[in-house]
Amino acid sequence: MAAWLLFYQILSLSIFLCPSHSADPDPLQDFCIADLKDSPSVNGFPCKPASTVTSEDFFFDGLSREGNTTNAFGTSIKQGNVLAFPGLNTLGISMNRVDFAPGGINPPHSHPRATESGVVIKGKVLVGLVTTGNVFYSKVLTRGQMFVVPRGLVHFQQNVGEGKALIFTAFNSHFPGSVLLATNLFGSKPSIPDDVLAKAFQVENSIIDGIKSKFGA
Ligand code: GLV
Ligand code: MN
Repeated sequence: MAAWLLFYQILSLSIFLCPSHSADPDPLQDFCIADLKDSPSVNGFPCKPASTVTSEDFFFDGLSREGNTTNAFGTSIKQGNVLAFPGLNTLGISMNRVDFAPGGINPPHSHPRATESGVVIKGKVLVGLVTTGNVFYSKVLTRGQMFVVPRGLVHFQQNVGEGKALIFTAFNSHFPGSVLLATNLFGSKPSIPDDVLAKAFQVENSIIDGIKSKFGA
């Protein structure tokens, strides 16, 4: 058999046998309540000893109350990830609660480790996402309607109704991570050099300084 054919067959077999993981890996035990005092290892926090686990470890009320939306964005995001709810450790899921004042936005951001789905509980919400090919998709949703944002894509929500709005979002990771574009680029520590940002956005350095000053850089 030609060497290249053998190589091709081995490659195909290895791809077939080792499918890439599109979310957190599957757990190898029923539960692993995170011991947040210990440092995370590769795939999560170490488990707290099973003998110390109680009912409380499986419940979380951090998403039950409306958040404070009096801020520049008019939005509150409460995260129900492994850091807030250690019972999620290694289970590959988490949720957020997002409250919006009228006109409030959850600014453009992405989740490097998870696909997001969401449901509108109250109000009228414009949900938008942009693909890696720079195509923008959006729709205004009302109560009970769902959306999905494929992993890593930039997306946002805006309350376009008269009153308050509320959505719950869910992720296929216990710690999806969130890259808030404006803060990431203009509020990093240390700061990205003005020249780099000015050239990237094709504007004067003074404009970059103006934006940076709003993001604490
Ligand atoms: C919404 O986009 C969220 O990340 O909760
Ligand atoms: Mn999101």
